[in-house]
Amino acid sequence: MAGDPIPPTIEWVGDRIRLIDQRRLPGELTVIDVTSVGQLCDLISTLAVRGAPALGAAGAMGVALASMHDLDIAATARRLKATRPTAVNLAWGVDRAVASDDPVAEAQRIAAEDVDTNRRLGAAGAALVPDGANVLTHCNAGSLACVGYGTALGVLRAASEAGKTLHVWVDETRPLLQGARLTAWELQRLAIPCTLVIDAMAASIMAAGGVDLVVVGADRVAANGDVANKIGTYGLAVLARHHRIPFHVAMPLSTIDPDTADGASIVIERRDPNEVVELAGHRVGPEGIDVDNRAFDVTPAALVTSWITDVGVVRSPAELLVARRRLSRPL
Ligand code: MRU
Repeated sequence: MAGDPIPPTIEWVGDRIRLIDQRRLPGELTVIDVTSVGQLCDLISTLAVRGAPALGAAGAMGVALASMHDLDIAATARRLKATRPTAVNLAWGVDRAVASDDPVAEAQRIAAEDVDTNRRLGAAGAALVPDGANVLTHCNAGSLACVGYGTALGVLRAASEAGKTLHVWVDETRPLLQGARLTAWELQRLAIPCTLVIDAMAASIMAAGGVDLVVVGADRVAANGDVANKIGTYGLAVLARHHRIPFHVAMPLSTIDPDTADGASIVIERRDPNEVVELAGHRVGPEGIDVDNRAFDVTPAALVTSWITDVGVVRSPAELLVARRRLSRPL
């Protein structure tokens, strides 16, 4: 319902993790208590919890569980990192907890920092959103992709909180429909006007002058500014350039990976073919058909107008690396 708050995506409660089961949204808002690393790995792989910053908190909390149960920490770290290879925050959160004397406290710190980080990022990016803007976004880079507030949606939320009116075109985001299921749900709760469209409609909306800017999130930003994000993001960036529309990427500094030189070096997660060949559990492709199910693509830095971070809006890859050095805990 419009106006209902969005609860934390993931939190540490007593001796366990509690997270929203995003597979059930928008129909049901339910939480799951997670008490083992194996259970957490399954929930990450099946996207019950997803989105780069939320995965950072989940990874750290996974190490916290392992430390409480006296599991092999190095093996747990490898297992957690392998669940989703593209989102660098997962490895970042795992490594932070592993390096800490108190993984439970560190995991809670990461979760608390996430919301503050996103509020700063949102405030910085809100200035890029003109009053009355029509904004297009892809996938879900909202509260549900983080512990709270959101990155790309955090920017829109901050603009709305600053009194600007806006309208959001929500890409449904095939094959798993994070836009339709999650972003549309969040924007309704935030009472931000939005329209759900199929991914293939972006070009004609832009051609008709219906998009003033594009704002998306990121799973990993390479040292040269190339951006890995949900499959379909690169196509939007190409379209935005053709139509002379600003294309902004919003992400915390922890999503910048100084150890990955460029987009070509980013490992792109490939997922189960059934996600493509089935629609909501119904088979839509013929038996035996070959399927390519890449979860992410890479947008070259040259197509990015700005990278919106928690330390401000950055306009060049060189500035991005300088900004990344301000993150107190390196990878
Ligand atoms: O496969 P998902 O749903 O985890 O993909 C999420 C995205 O692509 C988001 O845009 C990205 O993680 C940024 S979230 C703030």
